[in-house]
Amino acid sequence: MSNQPRHIAIIMDGNGRWAEAQGKNRTYGHEKGAEIVRSITTYCGEHSEIDRLTLYAFSTENWKRPKLEVEFLMKLLEKYLKSERSTYLDNNIRFEPIGDLSIFSKSLRNVIDDVQKATEGCNALTQCLALNYGGRDEIVRAVNASRENGAITVESLTNALDCTHDVDLLIRTGGDHRLSNFMMWQAAYAELFFTKTLWPEFSADELESIIKKFKTVERRFGGLN
Ligand code: IPE
Ligand code: IPE
Ligand code: MG
Repeated sequence: MSNQPRHIAIIMDGNGRWAEAQGKNRTYGHEKGAEIVRSITTYCGEHSEIDRLTLYAFSTENWKRPKLEVEFLMKLLEKYLKSERSTYLDNNIRFEPIGDLSIFSKSLRNVIDDVQKATEGCNALTQCLALNYGGRDEIVRAVNASRENGAITVESLTNALDCTHDVDLLIRTGGDHRLSNFMMWQAAYAELFFTKTLWPEFSADELESIIKKFKTVERRFGGLN
């Protein structure tokens, strides 16, 4: 039987370079990137073998960027969630955030909360946005939350994480070969795919061809096949 890409995780990289290559501001790339989020999410929602799509939208390290870019990203996120509320519902897609949301503005947290609650019963796909997310921060928060419960096990720590689901297929666009603090625990046995395509140019067709390759890989999980 071929592998099923039940949980796909994507590092959506390359928005800034894509915009700059056209002589535009980096923010233009983020706007275009948000449109690609919509189309890739819709594609995954239409394919029943995919249960979960986790997208890296803002890392715990992205606060180092210029204030104006960070402010733009926060506004874009709020605008995106407000305008996509009906798209989630129409496509039966559940929205879930991961990451430390406590740092966000009240109005952004309210929108996140509202879309999460509104889509709770949707079950075609869970789209999980990683917001102020860092794998190390997630693990540290999980360890702190578990400290009083005796010795930590792999299972107990997994259950204390923001994301309790192993990643099957992890994709990074934008040409770099690194995890940048994404899904450090969950990607332990993920298949890693890197593409030079910048995120604003990524497409459902390219995702489909990656999934096709993924299905042919022999996943051994340390055993022998
Ligand atoms: C990814 O694209 C989006 C975020 C990190 C928010 P970048 O903004 O990192 O684009 P490049 O990598 O600089 O081209
Ligand atoms: C990773 O991209 C974070 C997101 C896609 C949200 P970065 O552009 O922040 O990663 P580095 O800095 O190149 O490692
Ligand atoms: Mg980048």
